[in-house]
Amino acid sequence: MSRKQQHFAAIGGNEQDAIELLTQDHNRVKDLFEKFEMLQTEEGAESDKLDLAQQICTELTIHTKLEEEIFYPVAIEEIGQLDIMDEAAVEHAAAREMVEQLAAMAPEDECFDAKVKVLQDMVEQHIAEQEGKMFPRLQKNRMDLAALGERMSRRRRELHFIWTWACWAPRWTGRG
Ligand SMILES: [Fe+2]
Repeated sequence: MSRKQQHFAAIGGNEQDAIELLTQDHNRVKDLFEKFEMLQTEEGAESDKLDLAQQICTELTIHTKLEEEIFYPVAIEEIGQLDIMDEAAVEHAAAREMVEQLAAMAPEDECFDAKVKVLQDMVEQHIAEQEGKMFPRLQKNRMDLAALGERMSRRRRELHFIWTWACWAPRWTGRG
């Protein structure tokens, strides 16, 4: 049994380390953007587009929170503040602003598709930099990515619950 498997067996958790968890987030959101792209030329796909845009916004909100609250502070402690982390902070702020703008729009709005496309470009840039530069540095550093992954996975479940509740509670109570 590998060191990682031993760790997860001991704590009864899942087997994703921090980098696997973040990479899976990246793949999930890339998939959603691809599905959105495929709908762009379809007539009458507004409700599917809205659904996908909402899923993209949820995924990105949770992902940026996980990185800012847990992953970056630990990464900075391990390998120091890299330029890529400063860039990531700027990218996160820009993505947050874009998510807020999209949340206030309808798929019929003229700029809706364009905003999703700009957000997709920003996210792809973030993914390329993180997976190409930051993750390899951290993997070489022999930090405990398994324990970090467990912590992030727990926080991910909490954030997912909070975000889903924030989105749906106003509709259930008639205040949405
Ligand atoms: Fe990321």
